[in-house]
Amino acid sequence: MEVLDRYVVLVRYDAQVYCIEDLCTHDGGTLGDGELDGYCLVCPRHGAKFDVRNGHVVCMPATENTPSHEVRIDGDQVLVRLSD
Ligand code: FES
Repeated sequence: MEVLDRYVVLVRYDAQVYCIEDLCTHDGGTLGDGELDGYCLVCPRHGAKFDVRNGHVVCMPATENTPSHEVRIDGDQVLVRLSD
């Protein structure tokens, strides 16, 4: 989904909603097309994994974290505060 010209992925896991940038730092893959492996979103291109709780890379070939964003649920709305 697009938020203020940035592409992000919302993930619901274990009764929580998380938001990270829809960008694999390895080679620009789209994480939104990846599958969840526990708390990790797996890049469908080469298999890097990012923790949806904080955007930290946990499996190569990516070596840099992807941004994570604050999420708040307000009734039936999901509010996202973009990080820098
Ligand atoms: S683009 Fe994501 S692992 Fe290569």
